Amino acid sequence: MTTFGKSISFLLAGMLVIVPAFSQSEEDLDKAMKIVGKTMGELRKANEAKDAAALKAGGQTLVDQFTIAAKFWASHKMADATEMNGKTIAAAKALAAGTGEFAAVGATCKGCHDLYREKLADGSYKLKMSH
Ligand code: HEC
Repeated sequence: MTTFGKSISFLLAGMLVIVPAFSQSEEDLDKAMKIVGKTMGELRKANEAKDAAALKAGGQTLVDQFTIAAKFWASHKMADATEMNGKTIAAAKALAAGTGEFAAVGATCKGCHDLYREKLADGSYKLKMSH
C-alpha cells in the first residue's frame, strides 16, 4: 500500500471513531433539556410580567432546543417521544408567534418525562429506555 493509501485508510478508521460523536447523543438531549429548563424559568417570569417580547424570544429558544431533541428521538426511532416532542414544538411555536400560552407549553412536558425521564439519587436526570 502506498503512503497515500495508508493515510487514507488511517483517516477513514479515524472517522469511524469520530462520527458517532456528531450524531445525536444522550449528551445532546441532556444539553437541550438543561437549556429548556432554564428557559422555562425565564418564561415563567416573562409570563408574570406580561413581557410579550421575552415570551416570544423564549418560545423561539424552546423551538430550537426541541428541534435538537427531535433529532434524538428520530435517530432512536422513538415514535411516541417524537409525537410528544412535536406537541411541545407546536406549543412553543405559538408562543414564539405571540399567539400561544406559556401554560400550554408547560402542559406538554410531563407525559414524556413520566415515560422517559429518570431522576438519579444525586438529583440529576437521565434518559430511561426500559419500558
Ligand atoms: C419527548 C420527550 C420530552 C419532552 C416533550 C420534554 N422532555 Fe424534558 N427531558 C426528557 C428526558 C428523556 C430527560 C432526561 C434526559 C437528560 O436530562 O439527560 C429530560 C430532562 C429534562 C430536564 C432535566 C435536565 C437536567 O439534566 O438537568 C429538564 C429541566 C426538562 N427535561 C425540562 C423539560 C420541559 C420544561 C419540557 C416542556 C416544555 C420538557 N422537558 C419536555 C424528555 C422530554
